[in-house]
Amino acid sequence: MPPSTVPEPCVLVIFGASGDLTARKLVPALYELDQRRQLPDGLCVLGVSRTAMTDDAFRDRMRESVSNHAHAFDADRYAAFARRLHYFAGDAVRPEAYPSLARRIESLGAERRIARAQGGPNVLFYLSVAPELYEPIVANVGASGLVTEGKRWCVIDPAATAWQRIVVEKPFGTDLATARSLNRALGRVFEEDAVYRIDHYLGKELVQNLLVMRFANSIFEPIWNRDAVHSVQMTAAETIGVGARAGSFYDGAGAIRDMIQSHLLQVLALVAMEPPPRYEADAIVREKIKLFSAAKIAASPEEAASWGVLGRYGAGPDGPAYADEAGVDPSRRTETFAAMRVEFDNWRWAGVPFFVRTGKRLAAKLTEVVVQFREPPTAIFRGVRGLGDGCSPNRLVINVAPREGISLELRGKVPGAGLRIASAALDLDYVERFGGEPIEAYGPLLLDAMRGDRTLFKHRDEVEGGWSIVQPFLDPGPLRERIATYAPGSWGPAEADALIEASGCRWHNSSG
Ligand SMILES: NC(=O)c1ccc[n+]([C@@H]2O[C@H](COP(=O)([O-])OP(=O)(O)OC[C@H]3O[C@@H](n4cnc5c(N)ncnc54)[C@H](OP(=O)(O)O)[C@@H]3O)[C@@H](O)[C@H]2O)c1
Repeated sequence: MPPSTVPEPCVLVIFGASGDLTARKLVPALYELDQRRQLPDGLCVLGVSRTAMTDDAFRDRMRESVSNHAHAFDADRYAAFARRLHYFAGDAVRPEAYPSLARRIESLGAERRIARAQGGPNVLFYLSVAPELYEPIVANVGASGLVTEGKRWCVIDPAATAWQRIVVEKPFGTDLATARSLNRALGRVFEEDAVYRIDHYLGKELVQNLLVMRFANSIFEPIWNRDAVHSVQMTAAETIGVGARAGSFYDGAGAIRDMIQSHLLQVLALVAMEPPPRYEADAIVREKIKLFSAAKIAASPEEAASWGVLGRYGAGPDGPAYADEAGVDPSRRTETFAAMRVEFDNWRWAGVPFFVRTGKRLAAKLTEVVVQFREPPTAIFRGVRGLGDGCSPNRLVINVAPREGISLELRGKVPGAGLRIASAALDLDYVERFGGEPIEAYGPLLLDAMRGDRTLFKHRDEVEGGWSIVQPFLDPGPLRERIATYAPGSWGPAEADALIEASGCRWHNSSG
């Protein structure tokens, strides 16, 4: 179904309503949308979790988190917003809970006058529970008869027929096999275009900026290929360690699952994919899937070991070594740093290495993409002062966070007598130039789901394509056996420098 231009009213059923994500992100984002009058009139939220609570108790609980996490809290405005919030206490893993859940959804649809002629109100399910509950909940939703869209023999008027969609939080599987299993479970109940695999990292700003930079300008595309590009690197660095999150989540995931598979490969796809024919979800997703299908997959754990480096931070003045953090099981061999080389075997990129690295307790907090261009084909300035002093060939640095912008590094003549060459950058800081404030990613993504716009959500083939690329780096083998220790505040283990230097490149270690 093509996206509608306005968000459509629905019952937003949040599984995991008493949890952290609902309190810190989802409900504050909805409150902010409501304040900007961006929510459709009839929209209401039905929070579901096992904790016993009345609607009013849920509203009070959310009041506190909205006042802590939303911009500009106002008590009267919250009171008006809170009328949209409702609660259903039930165990979503047990099929017995669903008949009364279905009746509650139906009565909310009737109360708020949003029921469609066929199929009750539109329903947007949101899975904000632990990932091991995704499959049982999806199966129960399917068995309960709550999903009617696409299941009827004859739809008389699609505009009058209710839709049901589902938003699935990350992590989307823990490896290729579990991601496939979850995709199959979702596919048994929902059409693929009703599944919204969320990636909050892939906020609208980032995706739109990258696409606009590449495809609304004509100067980049002719040089965006192996003829002009020497290599591409992406870094997502954090200065903090895992702290209290370790035991509960991070130690079971690690840097590859937490950052590379889920986020960085998506950014990489936007940088490397072919131009889509239109700015539309289906067109963009087709290009991303095509790109992933051209990725060279390490054929064995030995090959993965020569394409990747894993590390763990050691002890420093600000905290213990990763292995000594609370909740960490050192025998799991979880990495807090990963660097890998990725290549795409297609006409545009054959032979161009893409390096991806991410880590905790590194020297700076930043996310950036660096496109390193080749040396000019002739060296008429060989021997000129400046050229040999690390003055690199052209480089485009795309700053994704903390401040969005781009910087194009050029070589120029230093004014004055004699010939001396130095690097200088043309900088564009998006916020300084265009104004505006960063937008919390959840609000726009929720609105997109209500509009049926999947541009910023992941397709099942895209998720599986990403897992196929990283799976050899996760499998047991020599790479996991030799996890290096790196100093906190550094740029990771020396082995990561060797990995990139083998291709004649160096990491762009900016200070952030
Ligand atoms: N928190 C974040 O910032 C964040 C960021 C990105 C992604 N995520 C993802 O979002 C999901 C939720 O994370 P979270 O941090 O909010 O987890 P959480 O704080 O542990 O919340 C889990 C929720 O699930 C509910 N629940 C557990 N078993 C249930 C059952 N059988 N039936 C109904 N509800 C049940 C819990 O409530 P009861 O105990 O009352 O049932 C609670 O509301 C996870 O998949 C996580 O990976 C979270």
